[in-house]
Amino acid sequence: MTNTNNIVNSKSILKDNFGRDHAYLRISLIERCNLRCSYCMPAEGVKLSPKSHLMTSDEIYNIAKTFVKHGVKKIRLTGGEPLIRKDIPVILEKLATLNVTLSITSNAVIIDKHIAILKQNNVNKINISLDSLDRKKFKEITLRDQFDKVYSNLLLLVEEDFEVKVNVVLMKGFNDNEIINFINLTKDLPISIRFIEFMPFDGNKWDKNKMVSYKEIMACVNSTYKTNEVIRLTDAKNDTTKNYKIKGYKGSFGVISSVTNPFCDSCNRLRLTANGKIKNCLFSASESDLLTTLREGKSIEPVIKKAVEAKFKVRGGMDTLEKLQEPKLHNQNRSMITIGG
Ligand code: GTP
Ligand code: 5AD
Ligand code: SF4
Repeated sequence: MTNTNNIVNSKSILKDNFGRDHAYLRISLIERCNLRCSYCMPAEGVKLSPKSHLMTSDEIYNIAKTFVKHGVKKIRLTGGEPLIRKDIPVILEKLATLNVTLSITSNAVIIDKHIAILKQNNVNKINISLDSLDRKKFKEITLRDQFDKVYSNLLLLVEEDFEVKVNVVLMKGFNDNEIINFINLTKDLPISIRFIEFMPFDGNKWDKNKMVSYKEIMACVNSTYKTNEVIRLTDAKNDTTKNYKIKGYKGSFGVISSVTNPFCDSCNRLRLTANGKIKNCLFSASESDLLTTLREGKSIEPVIKKAVEAKFKVRGGMDTLEKLQEPKLHNQNRSMITIGG
């Protein structure tokens, strides 16, 4: 006789109620950053967790190992800025012993000092944030005069054969006139430029009118290049990005359209915050505390299972644009700086 309980129990703890399997874990290592991007960090700053509430490198490893045991195949390290964590070499070394693709999202300000340690630990894919190719505007958005450093580090990463993606959060009237300049970088550089629709988080003064939509981005592209020059690429299975390239160019570009065209159906991502909470969605208002459970010497598996089962179908329950626009709803989430993207 078939035991239905066994069938239910044998379901992966990382599979949600909509059949989505989660093989991609994003771990935020730190809540602090060496830049101050307004779309990410509230002007008044954020209340930082006391150091004792942050995961140590051993705790990060132990929690990650549990996720890997249940099917996680890809781990991305985020922040704040992950590279300002002093023990980043130890964290990389530990995570590199797990059977996963290890990658990192960084603002690239100090990445030149980490090339060797990234290579030693097989971190080949690097996503960097760069919102303007104009030094003055870069300073305006980040409040730090680091454009030259970031741009030269972008070139260094390419030279060092890393697979580089550049995240550009577009804001109307600020950097939307740079779409073509960014795409033109892909003529000679084998990089992927990803234009991101500005998303609402606690304290980032989101306004739909500031957002540049997928449709508007493509209208700009299509009015610049000839129809037969703009090639739609095949997206990877769980890709966040709708990918394109310009015929003959070395690199590609794409759009991350979480606001106007969410890609939640193919979501395979879970998040772990620097203070050890699992977030089942970028937009989830609720979190579950894995670190306290781990420190109490208990199994974190039931907590993970419950969190995954509570995952909403779309954007933490904000399934319509109307709901996403409602500050009462999106402000229940953290600020982006403490989620890590
Ligand atoms: P790849 O692993 O290279 O595909 O990168 P990624 O897109 O997962 O990671 P990255 O850290 O570069 O994130 C780029 C942008 O995509 C950020 O603005 C993220 O917030 C957004 N993003 C990443 N994952 C998700 C997701 O699950 N949902 C939504 N809505 N946005 C996401
Ligand atoms: N909307 C869209 N993308 C954002 N990021 C940070 N804040 C926002 C926001 N409000 C992106 C940055 C970074 C990535 C991890 O998250 O571009 O590269
Ligand atoms: Fe996944 Fe949430 Fe992002 Fe949708 S919004 S793709 S459910 S993390």
